[in-house]
Formats: sequence, C-alpha cells, structure tokens
Amino acid sequence: MRQHVNPLSSNFNQIERVPSLREMFDDSKLNLHLDIGCAAGEFLFDLALVNSSWNYLGIEIREKLVKNAKLKMFEREIKNLYFIFGNASNILNDVQSKFLIKNLKSISFNFPDPWFKKRHYKRRIIQPEFINILANSLQKGTLIFIKTDVKDLFDYMDYTISSNCNFKRIDKKDFNYSESFNPKKGKTNREKYVIVNQLDIFEMIYIKV
Ligand SMILES: C[S@@+](CC[C@H](N)C(=O)[O-])C[C@H]1O[C@@H](n2cnc3c(N)ncnc32)[C@H](O)[C@@H]1O
Repeated sequence: MRQHVNPLSSNFNQIERVPSLREMFDDSKLNLHLDIGCAAGEFLFDLALVNSSWNYLGIEIREKLVKNAKLKMFEREIKNLYFIFGNASNILNDVQSKFLIKNLKSISFNFPDPWFKKRHYKRRIIQPEFINILANSLQKGTLIFIKTDVKDLFDYMDYTISSNCNFKRIDKKDFNYSESFNPKKGKTNREKYVIVNQLDIFEMIYIKV
C-alpha cells in the first residue's frame, strides 16, 4: 500500500548532497532527463536500459524506494541512471543544484500526487515558485512533460506552467518523440494502471523559450 508523504514536513528541509554529473554517470556529456516523483524508478530502469545515449535521473520523496532503486542500479551496473532522495522542490531550489538544472534536456512529472483537498494544494509539486526556479535556470529549449489522470490537477498544472512567460506549449501532434528521452513512448506504472482501467490521460509538453 502506498504511503503518502507530506512534502512540506521539516524532515525534508535537510537535503542530501547532489553528486556531480561525473559521479552520477559514466558519460556525463549525454543528454540528461529528470523524472520527478519517480517512485521505485521502474520507468527509468526501462528507459536507461534501452536508450544508452541518455542519462536518466529520478527524484523521489520516499526514502526506502530510493534506497532500493539505487541498490538495484548498482547491482545491475547501470551507468546512465541515478536516483536522489528528497522533496524535488527543495533539492532543485538549492544552490548546489544550479549545475544540474542547467544541464537538463527535459523533465517529466508523471502522475504527480493530486492532493485533492483544497487545504493540501500547497503540497502539490508544481507551484508557481517552483516553476519560476526552473524558468530562471533551465536552458532555452528544455522540455517539460506533464501527465495525469486527474483533470483538475491537469488544469492547475497547465495554468501554472503556461502562465509563466518562459514556457510555451507544444502540440503533441508536432512533437517528434523519437528524439526525446522516451523515444518508444514507454509507460510508467501509474500510466499502465490508468490504461488498464480505461481512465482518461491528460498531458502537455512545454518548451523553455
Ligand atoms: C502517484 S505517484 C506516481 C509515480 C510514477 N511517476 C508513475 O507515474 O507511476 C507520485 C510519486 O511522486 C512522489 N512525490 C510526491 N511529491 C514529491 C516531491 N515533492 N518530491 C519528490 N517526489 C514526490 C510520491 O512519493 C510518489 O512516488
């Protein structure tokens, strides 16, 4: 059973050191993709094994999942994959992460926690301040992918990102997935569940301009 974690808890104020790209990856010059809220990282394992020309980084707030994912990554000797534990917003807001954000080619938010109660909206990962941090540090051309099965959350995320003038929507029809971090359009665990249960999927791509 999934345990919800309150990202605003002071437990997450202390963040772990973010290793350099050379420490994280065998070839630090490859394109870098970041998946925020990667859970146990299965999606990233699938991607890393198939796409050896990309590096993949996952950030996840549930520590046990990150420990297990790192163990699996070391055991399988996968050199284009890494995981960091913590609240993604705190990690990317930290000055030590500036180099990381600058090197990103793309970021995905796959089925982030909806936090349905209004008083809990502030726990949602996408917040105007967080999008501002990304807007100020990402290179032009960096892509952001969002996906959810919750229409309200989609509307909120879409509004938050597109109201920042540094990001423009890209129509999926005009997007060439074959050159992206996910050329074969692999699915996350939540997406597989959503498809099996015939729920709607709402998604959008943004480019930093
Ligand atoms: C609904 S799950 C989706 C997992 C996966 N992306 C998928 O599509 O199957 C959302 C994940 O985001 C993580 N999460 C929530 N808030 C986070 C935050 N602020 N920073 C990092 N991870 C977070 C949760 O612990 C959970 O694993």
